[in-house]
Amino acid sequence: MSLSVPHMVTAIGAIHHDTIAHALETVMPETSTPSTLELRPGGVATNVARSLGRLGIKTGLIGTVGDDGTASALLQKLEHEGIETSTIARPGFTTGQYIAFHDPNGTLAAACVDDRVLSYAPADLFDQLIEARRRAIPDGSIWFLDANLPEPVLARVLDAIGNEVIVANAVSDAKANRLTPHLTRLDCLMLNRGEAVAITKLGPQTSTDDLASALQETGLARFVLTAGAGDVLVLDEGKTTRVPVLPAHIVDVTGAGDALTAGTLAAMAHGMSFRDAVPFGLRAAALTLQSTGALADALSWQALEDF
Ligand SMILES: Nc1ncnc2c1ncn2[C@@H]1O[C@H](COP(=O)(O)OP(=O)(O)OP(=O)(O)O)[C@@H](O)[C@H]1O
Ligand SMILES: [Mg+2]
Repeated sequence: MSLSVPHMVTAIGAIHHDTIAHALETVMPETSTPSTLELRPGGVATNVARSLGRLGIKTGLIGTVGDDGTASALLQKLEHEGIETSTIARPGFTTGQYIAFHDPNGTLAAACVDDRVLSYAPADLFDQLIEARRRAIPDGSIWFLDANLPEPVLARVLDAIGNEVIVANAVSDAKANRLTPHLTRLDCLMLNRGEAVAITKLGPQTSTDDLASALQETGLARFVLTAGAGDVLVLDEGKTTRVPVLPAHIVDVTGAGDALTAGTLAAMAHGMSFRDAVPFGLRAAALTLQSTGALADALSWQALEDF
């Protein structure tokens, strides 16, 4: 390891309360399916922050919540995990919620999200929190953004972060496009095939190689383009490399991409080059697929090093 003290990471984006259902039989419409239901923190920025915490990285989380009991329970849990939360509670809004229905084979049958607390936020919502965070942490820290930030907020956040290293996650097909005007400002983008289709405006059948070429043409400096069980394509220093994913016994797919982001960020925070950091992300994704929810019980820096 090249650095004894890892860099800090500050994540900005969604803080959600997730309900994860694992159906005991295939989920059917118009009836209730016997399931196990688990409640846990969620949202890409929150998942990434929690994983980073577990990986021993000093992590801040900036976001917004409602003025409800869900928020206090959620923030208490995150603080207890050692995450430095800075949040704005918005009166009249409920805390972001996500509900996922998984079939017995682990695939996602359906999901719904209510993130009005963030998607209807004023552009300057996080200005003061970011300013305060920048004063509190050393220069050279890493910033992470998720595309749950609506466009006006995203533009202000990027301004407020200045010249620091910024890694982003494209979140979903519907939200990925929010990053399009800012691709050349990002140091790295983490995205899946669907999100690459949304950004490049190519057809959904486009090969992953062609999606990668089109992404490179946007001026993006680095990316990790994932394709579920397919190889990931990594752009670094003008060259795209194909990296196979690790075999995993899948319990559920929730948060595998977020874990890949967190593992990569943690290795970068430890001073590794982007190219060397990505395999740590792939290991974190494999560990996450093997457990329920977005945070694998087995996730630790040691586990990634030993994998
Ligand atoms: N079926 C699978 N088999 C093996 N590895 C997988 C599988 N699905 C996902 N992964 C691992 O997780 C990584 C991210 O997966 P994926 O492309 O599904 O991201 P995503 O859609 O962004 O996920 P998320 O739901 O967390 O946002 C993959 O690159 C791979 O390492
Ligand atoms: Mg993802």
